[in-house]
Amino acid sequence: MNNSKVWYITGSSQGLGLTLVKKLLENGYRVAATSRNAQALKEAAGVIDTKRFLPLAVDLNNVDSIDKSIQQTLAAFGRIDVVVNNAGYGMAGTVEEITEQKIRNIFDVNVMAAIDVVKSVLPVMRKQRSGYIINIGSVAGFAGAPGWSVYSATKAALAAFTEVLSLDVKEFGIRVTVVEPSGFRTGFLTKDSLAYTESKIAGYQAVKETQKHYLAGDGKQPGDPEKAAEIFIELAKNEQPPLHLYLGEDAYNRASGKLAAMTSELEKWKLTSISADYK
Ligand SMILES: NC(=O)c1ccc[n+]([C@@H]2O[C@H](COP(=O)([O-])OP(=O)(O)OC[C@H]3O[C@@H](n4cnc5c(N)ncnc54)[C@H](OP(=O)(O)O)[C@@H]3O)[C@@H](O)[C@H]2O)c1
Repeated sequence: MNNSKVWYITGSSQGLGLTLVKKLLENGYRVAATSRNAQALKEAAGVIDTKRFLPLAVDLNNVDSIDKSIQQTLAAFGRIDVVVNNAGYGMAGTVEEITEQKIRNIFDVNVMAAIDVVKSVLPVMRKQRSGYIINIGSVAGFAGAPGWSVYSATKAALAAFTEVLSLDVKEFGIRVTVVEPSGFRTGFLTKDSLAYTESKIAGYQAVKETQKHYLAGDGKQPGDPEKAAEIFIELAKNEQPPLHLYLGEDAYNRASGKLAAMTSELEKWKLTSISADYK
């Protein structure tokens, strides 16, 4: 019987998810990996020990499909130790120019799907009285750039969800981390992944300049997915993983700058803040 830890990862046919799946399999772990396209996932993962790899076709917008995949994982491996809510995509454009439907769609994938996976796996982890959930947020959810307001909102929602979830499930021995990367060299900025709405309204100079900068950055991102995967594996071994982990030097610098600015503003307005209470 194989006693290696069982990982369940969403959005696994490319990028950070696929790199993590491969590294886990190389290191002897058992892995259930979801994709919209299980065939593409199998081909991308390559030749692997099928006893330790469960590729699953899952529609993350469908709760029944998610529940079924969790049950399939249990049937195959008997437990789930680590969940990585990785599936997600970027959205660049001004809020005026992005259709409401596109905005709802990205919230469904980047936020609701992760929440639904958590809802589905918590009964399993509570029963085990152990488990670790990694939600892949973004530094954009804390210190965003012009033109990324909708994407930033999804990742901020995921981070806030993670923060309170960690308080709720601590007593069951379940640990939770939101990983918040800066640019990593994946498919993220390609036209197949990024939902890009070119800004045509006159003005919006900051958005237009940032869009140019990001589109030119595809393939040149400093973040290495192999190193990210190694860090995820180490995090899961840690009894006290961080609640937030900013990943990449740019992520660290942006988060650190935002924290300093927030602390300074908080203190500057302290008297006004506390003056609002009944005396
Ligand atoms: N790379 C970066 O610079 C960066 C920075 C900050 C945060 N992130 C976050 O990291 C995570 C992984 O992204 P990546 O960089 O690896 O990008 P990627 O190469 O584009 O891979 C994204 C993965 O997410 C899944 N996905 C994308 N759109 C989806 C949709 N509409 N419905 C369901 N699944 C969908 C895909 O899964 P399938 O095709 O297999 O179904 C794909 O494997 C995302 O949550 C992203 O927001 C990335």
